[in-house]
Parts: sequence; C-alpha cells; structure tokens
Amino acid sequence: MDDFHRRAGALHAEGVPLAAIAEAVGTPVYVYSKATLVGHFRRLREAWGDVNPCIRYAVKANGNLAILSVLAREGAGFDVVSAGEILRVIAAGGDPAKIDFAGVGKTRAEIEYALKVGIDTFNVESEAELDLIDRVARERGTTAAVALRVNPDVDPRTHTYITTGRKENKFGLDFARARSIAETVSERAGVRLTGLHVHIGSQMTEVEPYVEMVRRLVAFAKDLQGFHPALEELNVGGGFGIHYKENEAPSMEAFARPVVPLLKESGFLIHMEPGRLLVGNAGILVTRLLFEKQSGEKRFLICDAAMNDLLRPALYGAYHRVEPVKPREGEHTDGDVVGPVCESGDFLAKDRALPPMESGDLLAVRSAGAYAFVMASNYNARPRPAEVLVDGDRFGVVRTRETLDDLVRGETTAPDWKSENS
Ligand SMILES: Cc1ncc(COP(=O)(O)O)c(C=O)c1O
Repeated sequence: MDDFHRRAGALHAEGVPLAAIAEAVGTPVYVYSKATLVGHFRRLREAWGDVNPCIRYAVKANGNLAILSVLAREGAGFDVVSAGEILRVIAAGGDPAKIDFAGVGKTRAEIEYALKVGIDTFNVESEAELDLIDRVARERGTTAAVALRVNPDVDPRTHTYITTGRKENKFGLDFARARSIAETVSERAGVRLTGLHVHIGSQMTEVEPYVEMVRRLVAFAKDLQGFHPALEELNVGGGFGIHYKENEAPSMEAFARPVVPLLKESGFLIHMEPGRLLVGNAGILVTRLLFEKQSGEKRFLICDAAMNDLLRPALYGAYHRVEPVKPREGEHTDGDVVGPVCESGDFLAKDRALPPMESGDLLAVRSAGAYAFVMASNYNARPRPAEVLVDGDRFGVVRTRETLDDLVRGETTAPDWKSENS
C-alpha cells in the first residue's frame, strides 16, 4: 500500500528514518515517498491498461512541483482548476498539451492563459462559460477543444462536502441542457466539442455508484454521437477512495474491473483524473509533541502541527491514523492530538489510544499526501511547514519552511491611497 514502514521499531519513509528528517528539517514537515507515488501510478495504469487511458493527475490534491515532476516523468498529464495550477505544471516540466482545465468559474484571463500555453481540453460547466471560451478563442484566431461536464445526478455516497455529481451540486450540466448545447455547438466557431467529462465526488468507497455513472455517461455519449460524430473522448473523472483507517476503500482494480470492458467496447478515447488515489498514501505529516496535559479525565497531546497545517480533520471530521515515530513502552491510553491554534476545532485526531509520550517525541499523521499541504494556511500567523521528498535512502527539501518574514510579505502600513475624487 505504501512505503512507510518500521525498522527496529522506528518509522521510516522508504530507507530514511523519519527522525532523521525531523532533525535536519524541523517540524512540522510533510514527507512524501517517491516509490509509493510511482507505484500507485503504475498500478493504476496497469489496472486500466485495456483502455490505455490518458491519466490526468488532479493537481489540486497536491501541487508540489516535485510531485508533479515525478508524475510528468511517468507520462502523466494533469487536471487543473486554475491558471496557478497550469503554471505549476509547466514549472514542473509537465506538457501543457496534456492538461485538461476544469472548474465552474474560469476567468477570461485564465482562459487566455490556457489558450496561450496550448492546453488540451477545457471541461466546460455552463453555457455562459462556453460562450466566453468561444469568444476568447475567436479573438485569438484559434479554436478550443471542449468537453461538456455532465452532472449525472448519481450519489457517490461520500462526505457531503466532496460530492460533485448530484443535481444539487454546482458542478456540470444536466443531461438535457448538455444535449441542447451539443445540438447548437457547431454554430460557435471558436470551439470544437470533442468530449464529455464527469466527476461525481471524492473518496468514493463504493464501486457501484461509479459504475452507474459510467453507464449513464456512455449511453449519453452514444446518443450525442448520433448527431455529433466528432465526439471522441470520455473523461471518467477521479474520486477513487483510499484507506485512511484500514481497508475501507475498494482496490483500484475493483473500480477498474467493471467499467473497463464497458469503456473499451464504447470505442471512446478515455481520460481520467485521479488525485487522492495517487498521492494520499504517499505522504505523511511529522509533528513534534510540545506538551501533554490532563484536563479531568481527558488526555491532550499538544503538537506543533495544527489545523492550519492539516485542515481535513477540522473541515470534514476526517480520520487520519496517528502513531508515534518511535513508540515508548507502556500502557496505551486515549487522548486527543491537538495543535496550538486557538480553536476547539483544532485537532488532528480524537480519542486515540497512544502510549506514554514525552515532550519532543515525534508523531506521524498518516495518509497526508492529498488535500493536506495544499489547504495549509497562515491562520494564527503560523508559517506553513516544509515538504520533503524521499527517494530510496535519500531525502531532499522540495519546499522550504516559511519564515516569520514570509508572513508579512506584500503587506504595508503605508498604502498608496487612491481616492474616488482624484
Ligand atoms: C473535477 C475533478 N476531477 C478530479 C478530482 C480529483 O478527485 P480525487 O482526488 O478524489 O481523485 C476532483 C476533486 O475534487 C475534481 O473536482
């Protein structure tokens, strides 16, 4: 599953003791395993091999340049949702011609930038957006390849904040609207409708809604092909669940098995855009215990990582396994692992059985490769943590820790005042 394991009791990332990284780089620190990342990518490619998909890694899950570079070298393309993510892909050496651009609110400037660098496809979420892409492309004397994102109204049975394919979600177009757009799309000289796109949610732990979604998508695509033969691509999204506790998610093969024959038979070129599946279990967060305190019956382990570093527990009530990097002997008792931020919602884990610990001991927060550093903030004026990549027996800092000076960069107490009347 991943390349974080114990040697002589001490937790390692591949061949490197986490304690050595914490010593050299400080804490909190995100640590990523290259072997795990590459292993996940290759296994996914193999599982979907019969349709030879264009795998477009969802940059939003973890946009660190080193992560993007590893995946680009493996042949991945990228799913992006902003100009910033396009820039990241290019800075990491990714090929712009393998970028799909999704998102409900693309700005004119972002569309211009995407056309300038030559992305592959715009995944379009509304008629107004299609009109804007058409206008901008015509102004630039070009045409843009577009895929219509459909909202198939399938419940992915995941956390409500990360469902995207139910009709009450803001994403995509219902089938009737998508069909009527497809009927008139050829009147727009700036766009070419080449495909359909769908993504129903994240951290799916059941296969059946996904299979249902693919069935609906293929049937709809065949219908459109009847009058729009240029339709040749299906983007079947991401959202594949991973293990946060243990074995709560189907394997990648279990998701692939029922849909690959269906997609192969359809004859469409397949795009997919997994994020969490590739990086989630390729990263952990290492934090140091500052203090322990008892409040009545309650044990609190106060660490130097907080909700600003890893928001998922506070935002979704997400579960992350937490374990000492080097456990001490003794009886385990339940405790809450919390950070220094001034919010009662600032916790990394609740009611976890942990052995005795002393100030300065290290804890590892597992499965912290996806939707983790990317959501970090400077709340409470806390610098964001460093990120480290491990490759076999070596490790390197791939993002330096922010400094206190970084926190005030761009701010001033003496603005260049402008007045309405001047
Ligand atoms: C359009 C789209 N594609 C792909 C993803 C990646 O999802 P995951 O990381 O669950 O695979 C997301 C995540 O929200 C998304 O919105």
